[in-house]
Amino acid sequence: MVLAWWQHGVVYQVYPRSFQDSDGDGTGDLPGIISRLDYLVWLGVDAVWLSPVYPSPMTDFGYDVSDYCNVDLLFGTLADLDALIAAAHARDVKIILDYVPNHSSGQHPWFINSRNGRASAKRDWYIWHDGAPGSGPPNNWQSHFGGSGWTWDEGSRQYFYHSFLPTQPELNWRNPQVRAAMFDVLRFWLARGVDGFRVDVMWLMIKDDQFRDNPPNPHCTAGGSSYGRFIPLYTADRPEVQEIVAGMRAVLDEYPDRVLIGELYLPIDRLVAYYGVDGRGAQLPFNFQLVQMPGWDASTIADIITRYEAALPPGGWPNWVLGNHDRPRIASRIGTAQARVAALLLLTLRGTPTLYMGDELGMVDTPIPEAEVQDPAEQREPGRGLGRDPERTPFPWQAGPGAGFTNGTPWLRIGTDAPLSVQRADPASMVNFCRGLLALRRRHPALAGGTIECVAAHGPVLSFRRASHGDTLVVLANTSGAPAAVEVPAGEVLLSTHADRIGKSVTAALTLHPDEAVILQPREVQHGR
Ligand code: GLC
Ligand code: MG
Repeated sequence: MVLAWWQHGVVYQVYPRSFQDSDGDGTGDLPGIISRLDYLVWLGVDAVWLSPVYPSPMTDFGYDVSDYCNVDLLFGTLADLDALIAAAHARDVKIILDYVPNHSSGQHPWFINSRNGRASAKRDWYIWHDGAPGSGPPNNWQSHFGGSGWTWDEGSRQYFYHSFLPTQPELNWRNPQVRAAMFDVLRFWLARGVDGFRVDVMWLMIKDDQFRDNPPNPHCTAGGSSYGRFIPLYTADRPEVQEIVAGMRAVLDEYPDRVLIGELYLPIDRLVAYYGVDGRGAQLPFNFQLVQMPGWDASTIADIITRYEAALPPGGWPNWVLGNHDRPRIASRIGTAQARVAALLLLTLRGTPTLYMGDELGMVDTPIPEAEVQDPAEQREPGRGLGRDPERTPFPWQAGPGAGFTNGTPWLRIGTDAPLSVQRADPASMVNFCRGLLALRRRHPALAGGTIECVAAHGPVLSFRRASHGDTLVVLANTSGAPAAVEVPAGEVLLSTHADRIGKSVTAALTLHPDEAVILQPREVQHGR
């Protein structure tokens, strides 16, 4: 089977605000990204997913789009984006855009028209409802960022719905005109050469048309988010969303070789529905199992791999994620030493890996003092650990003020992580380890497209085997901070989190260092004689 680029390749997420500033305004931009493409080639990734760069009032840092077919001046111009696509393609790197179809900005001309009055041409393009009898919002649907998901519009005397901020009104995907307009947005970018889309909150796009109350969540914890008080039965993962996903996929299929990726925070059994009937849905429904797992241990990871692989529909291609701009960094969640183990797993498990910018440096969350908080999620529900600024700090390219990220004042403070320039010079650094992993992945068909077998946990050690046409590799990962002895096939260690092990031969038993993971090539088994 010939694999598509999005199957054997590695996706790298760039959060544009924080990658590279080119004009000294303290915010990353498109010319900045172009100037750093050679780093991504050096690192060895195949595709770049950009968080939104469209015109936006930036109340949710670009996830509030006021024009789907342009570029915000903060990031550059449409010509800059064309130049980025061309420069990436010249280096054999694909460009994936973020598509935010669930909601627009309140400043989008569509919403401005919609809220003009009940008779407005675009009234039905958004989700409007009368208040409950008596007073107050129509039902108990909550915003993910705290409080009711309904906001009263005094001018037109109805409520509008928003899963996020009141500045992010929800588009009504039941309306065929909305579908047509939003599908044309996809075509606009596909025609410019964009290689695919990551679809924002794909599982939220359709809400119950009877506006029924969500049931209370019996497991909600005191001090948790207001959203967590209810089970989102009527506001998430509604059956009708599948038809919309299939519609998006059909638009992408009008162009050769494009990929549809879905942001989906769902349990495995529901997640796999988004591959669609006969594979006509998303090619890569984001698998956040390793992002969402509490703790980090071999038996839970083995269980996740086994259940996920078993749940995949025929032809469904797996994918793995460790982090993104919404979740605490992997190195902060499981520790710097285990972050290497996690990177080795991300790049050796079966399926497409998505690497979040900076995780290849082992970046940790940077605490943001209250006075500097930027994220609206933190501002609306302070102190509950919901803030996303810590994982969005600028990329540290080099030592010194501005870290090579900016000549001006960075929009968000820069952390204390070891910068790229320092790490590049150190063969034992995290970035060189990740680069080695990416190179090995490219060389071994077993890693890029082979089967996964024998997934097991032996105490703290996770192990599995990858195989493809005579190329066989064994992965062993010690998820604990103590040495761990395991039985192994005789062979050679191709790569380890620990440099002293690389290139060594092993026989029947191996004692892994604390926090060590290895990729082993078994010596060929000799039969007969
Ligand atoms: C997605 C984005 C997140 C944003 C939200 C609303 O979860 O990843 O950053 O705040 O959608 O668009
Ligand atoms: Mg700038």
